[in-house]
Amino acid sequence: MSRECTLDVNGSLTTLQVAPSARLIDVLRDNLGLTGTKEGCGNGECGSCTVLLEGRPVNACLLIALEVEGRAITTIEGLLGPGGKLSPVQQAFVEAGGIQCGFCTPGMIMSATALLEANPAPTDAEIRDALVGNLCRCTGYTQIIESVRAAAVRLGTGDRPEAPR
Ligand code: FES
Ligand code: FES
Repeated sequence: MSRECTLDVNGSLTTLQVAPSARLIDVLRDNLGLTGTKEGCGNGECGSCTVLLEGRPVNACLLIALEVEGRAITTIEGLLGPGGKLSPVQQAFVEAGGIQCGFCTPGMIMSATALLEANPAPTDAEIRDALVGNLCRCTGYTQIIESVRAAAVRLGTGDRPEAPR
């Protein structure tokens, strides 16, 4: 039997009927059409499903939608600015070559966004630590680290996004 659930996603409240066991990733992708969040492993190991829950990165494949009812969720789509402008972190990934096939990219960008919000000038070790739960099957880690470094520079020079809630 389904239950009513009100989700706060990217600043909008949506009420929908969900199965008690419905995973957040499925509700985001299938019910809300937010397909930027990717499912790789489905068991908390690859990070491709990373979204922000009240600003902190979490695996949407491990969360039950009803458990996060009413709490602020940000997906990769929620990082876009007015007119679809890429966020500074998104733009840095494009320019620094941090994207190959792109499957891991939304999760990487969500983790990087949370890191830079908390620590605007991370060391390479801190970047690696923040991305430890995000796997890239294309092995583009060098460019990904460079992308986060470039994003820190962008943010440091005043290219500020909306803070994830
Ligand atoms: S799909 Fe969620 S961690 Fe891999
Ligand atoms: S860019 Fe292909 S999985 Fe990372």
